[in-house]
Amino acid sequence: MVLFFVFYDSNVVAVGNCADINWDEHELGFSPVPTDFMYVMKCAKGDKFSQGSLVPYGNIEISPFAVILNYGQGIFEGLKAYRTEDGRILLFRPEENAQRMKIGADRLCMPSPSIDQFVTAVKQTVLANKRWVPPLEKGTLYIRPLLIGTGASLSLTPAPEYTFLIYCTPVTSYHKSSLNLKVESKFHRAITGSGGTGGIKSVTNYAPVYTAITEAKANGFSDVLFLDSATGKNIEEVSSCNVFVVKDNVISTPETNGAILPGITRKSIIDIALDLGYEVMERTISVEEILVADEVFCTGTAVVVNSVSSVTYKETRAEYKTGAETLSEKLRKTLVGIQTGCVEDKKGWTLRV
Ligand code: COI
Repeated sequence: MVLFFVFYDSNVVAVGNCADINWDEHELGFSPVPTDFMYVMKCAKGDKFSQGSLVPYGNIEISPFAVILNYGQGIFEGLKAYRTEDGRILLFRPEENAQRMKIGADRLCMPSPSIDQFVTAVKQTVLANKRWVPPLEKGTLYIRPLLIGTGASLSLTPAPEYTFLIYCTPVTSYHKSSLNLKVESKFHRAITGSGGTGGIKSVTNYAPVYTAITEAKANGFSDVLFLDSATGKNIEEVSSCNVFVVKDNVISTPETNGAILPGITRKSIIDIALDLGYEVMERTISVEEILVADEVFCTGTAVVVNSVSSVTYKETRAEYKTGAETLSEKLRKTLVGIQTGCVEDKKGWTLRV
C-alpha cells in the first residue's frame, strides 16, 4: 500500500490507498461513494468558527439530544468540483454558496464560517480527495457543506455547539432523462412569502417533499412541481431544483420571494441567457401558463439544467420539446462549458483548486 502525506496548515493527514480509480468500471449515479477525507470545524454558541481540520471520512458521533436531530437546526450547501480537459480542477462560484450558508445560518440562529473560511475549507477538502474528481465527461465531485447544531438541548433554544462539515462524493446525473412532472396540489414545499424558510437550504425543507414524490413516482412521474401555499395557483419550485418556462423565446422563472431557493445555477443561467441576448423575466407564473409553454426546464447544482418533457396538472398533461435544438440545451452547454473550462469564463465564476 502506498501512503502519501498531505499538509494543510497545521494538519498532517495520511492518505490511504491511492490506487487509481477506473472510472469506466464505476457505475456512478447520485448516491454516496465514500471518499478519503472530510473537513470538520466546531464552534461554541456565541463564538466564531476559527480552526478546522481534515479527518478521514467516516461516521460522526453526536448526542441524541443534539439540536439538529431533535429540532432540525441545520443547513447545507451543494457545489461541485469539475475536472478540465487538461486535468485542472475547478470550483464554480463557491463564494455564492458561502454567502447563502451565512444567510441561512442567520435565519436559524447559528454562527457560520466566514466566506474565506468556507471557500478555503472547500478547496482543502477537494484537494485531499482529488483522486475522486472524475475525468471530464465521466462525472463531477459533488461537495456537501453542512452546518448543524450538534450541542445538546431539550428546551427550544439554539444549540450550545455547532459543527461545520464538508464531505464529497463523485456523481453523474441526478435525473437520467427529461422530467415528467406532476403538479402537486395537496402538499406545499414552503410557506409563500418572506417569513418562512423556503429561501434557505434548511434541512427541514427537504424531507417534507418525500410523500409527494413517493406518490408521484408510484404514478409514473419523475418529480413534483410545487405551487405557492397562499393561492395554490402559481408555480414555485421542483423538489430539488428551480424551474424555468420558455414561451416565444422569452425565458421566465418564478421570482425568489423568500419561498423559493435562490439557486446559484438559476442565477448563472439567467446571466448566461441575458448574455446570449434572450429576454429573461423573474415573475409570478401561473400553473395555466406553464401548461402552454414551448419549453420547460429545471436548474440546480445536482440537476444542472434538466429538460422537462411534460407537466401534468390534475387531468391536463402538457408536453414540451426536448433535445439538441432546445434553448435549455444551448444554456446547459454554455454553463457546463464554463464550469469545465471548455468555454471562456469571462465573469470570473470559476476558481482553480
Ligand atoms: C443541489 O442541487 O445541490 C441540492 O442541494 C439539491 C439536493 C436535493 C440534491
